Formats: sequence, C-alpha cells, structure tokens
Amino acid sequence: MRPPITVRTAAKVNLHLGVGAPREDGFHPLTTVYQAIGLCDDVTAYDSPVLELSLLPADWVDSGAVPLGADNIAHRAAVELGHHHQRDLTGRLVIEKSIPVAGGLAGGSADAAAALVALDRLHQLDTPDDVLLRIAADLGSDVPFALIGGTALGTGRGELVESVADVGTWWWVLVPSVEGMSTPEVYRHFDKLVPDAPDTPPDAEMLLGALRTGQPESLARALHNDLQEPAIDLRPELGRLIAQGESEGALRGLVSGSGPTVVFLAESADHARDLAGALMRTGHEVVLVANGAVAGAHLVSSHA
Ligand code: C5P
Repeated sequence: MRPPITVRTAAKVNLHLGVGAPREDGFHPLTTVYQAIGLCDDVTAYDSPVLELSLLPADWVDSGAVPLGADNIAHRAAVELGHHHQRDLTGRLVIEKSIPVAGGLAGGSADAAAALVALDRLHQLDTPDDVLLRIAADLGSDVPFALIGGTALGTGRGELVESVADVGTWWWVLVPSVEGMSTPEVYRHFDKLVPDAPDTPPDAEMLLGALRTGQPESLARALHNDLQEPAIDLRPELGRLIAQGESEGALRGLVSGSGPTVVFLAESADHARDLAGALMRTGHEVVLVANGAVAGAHLVSSHA
C-alpha cells in the first residue's frame, strides 16, 4: 500500500474581471486578476484498486450539489491525468470541503487541481508542470490558476495564467449564499445586458498598480467585476448585501466571479473580524474570514 497524500487547495476571488464579447467557441475573452485566499479544501488520495470519491463537507457546504460520480471535476481530472500516462489511474479521493459550491470561488476547480497533484504524487508519475497546466486548462478555465495560486493575471478564457507582483496581505470577509448560481447563466445574462461588449476585455492596469502599493484603500478603489451587474440583476439581494457590508465599514464589497458569494475588503485582520461579527449580528449565518494571497494546490502531508 502506498501512503496517502493530502493536498491543500484554495478558493479564489477575482480582483479584476474584465469580460469581452463571446468568442466563436462560446467562451468569453477575459482579462482577470485572480487571488488565492485562505479558504481551503483538503483532498486526500488513498491507494485503492478503483477510482472513487467521497466528501466531508463543512457545515455551510451544500453537499447535495456536489456530484460524486464520473461528472465530478476531480474525477475527470483523474481520468485525464490517466489518459496522458496511458493508464487507468485509481485512488480513493476524500474531499474535505470548506469552499462553498457554485459560489463563484472556483471550489470545483480547486478540487480538480488538488486531485491532479495528489494522484501524480500517489502514483509517482512526475508529470511535468506544463503538462499539468495543459490538462488543467482542458478541465476548466479556472483550474490552471488553482495550480499556481498566489495572485495572477489570467487571459484567454482565464486559463492562461502568470503570477504578478503583490506586496500586500489582504483581508477578506466572505458571505456565501445558501443557493449557488450557474456560471453559464450569469455569462448569458452578461451578453443580454451588454450586447455591445468589446472584443478586448477591459485591462487590469489600475488593479495591478493597486497591488503594488500594498494599500487596502487603493485596492478597494480598483476592484472591478463585469459579471457583478448581471449577477445582481439575477439576484437583487446581492446588491443589498454589498450596500449593507459597506455601511458596516467594509472598504468595498464585490461579487466574487460569477457569484453569488460576496466578498468584502477589510483594512486589517482585526477589522475583518469586526466586520464579520457585525454581518453575523444582522442575520447572516455564514460569514467567513480569509486572507490572501496563499499558495496554489500543494502537498501538506504524506502519511508515511
Ligand atoms: O471553463 P469552465 O468549464 O469553468 O466554464 C464554465 C462555463 O462558464 C462555460 O461553459 C461558459 O458558459 C462560461 N464561461 C465563459 N467564458 C469564460 C469562462 C467560462 O463563457 N471565459
């Protein structure tokens, strides 16, 4: 028996999400800045004669929304890694899930990235990084970022990633929604609301400049998400939540990716804790605090 391998993998927020007009393949060209934050899933790969998946969800995770069969993205990751090595890869993948499902935080993509790293290590495949990144891109637009983590510029449909300078420690308060949102639906609504979107998405220069200052106030001014308006149009309560967090002292509130999670930027760790307390007192049951940037999918233990 090979010893199990545990890989930690982070949620992302999009600090800048510039969206262009849909391409011929239906995907939207993006200029985005991702940040990996300290809200993590742990994926453990155990030696097993079959490929199987199970979930250990945190209280706030809607486990019913996670498929455990062949359509789970972590399962697909295992199959695709196996294809590359021309063999069937097996393993029992246990996902300790804290990242809300369908929340705009790329939780599924994070699990896929973790499955790639964990199974590569379990089976001692030594897959080169560029191959892992290519397999990741085929699995989903956000999966390459989940491998590299930190803070990164994403272009193409989001799958082309390069790390960027980020000198700050940024504190975030997250308010997930009970019910997730469909990413394709939010993109379709963007097309309806912005029929004349440019072919080239809005650039991220202001955001990249703000990251280099390390000042939360600068970052707050630069945060930008073209999917926020369509998400709020579909779920008006998200707009009210942003206003509420800002009135409680958040530097800025923003829909994360395609939503529905709302993230609030705080000045410091203490400020984030105070803000989270205030939001909980106004009736939000689940309020999470996380800082960024943190590492991409990485080994935390090999239980020898
Ligand atoms: O790449 P991923 O599988 O995560 O994308 C899910 C869906 O989100 C796509 O099928 C598409 O509808 C939408 N999407 C898009 N443009 C992107 C990324 C995602 O339209 N750049």
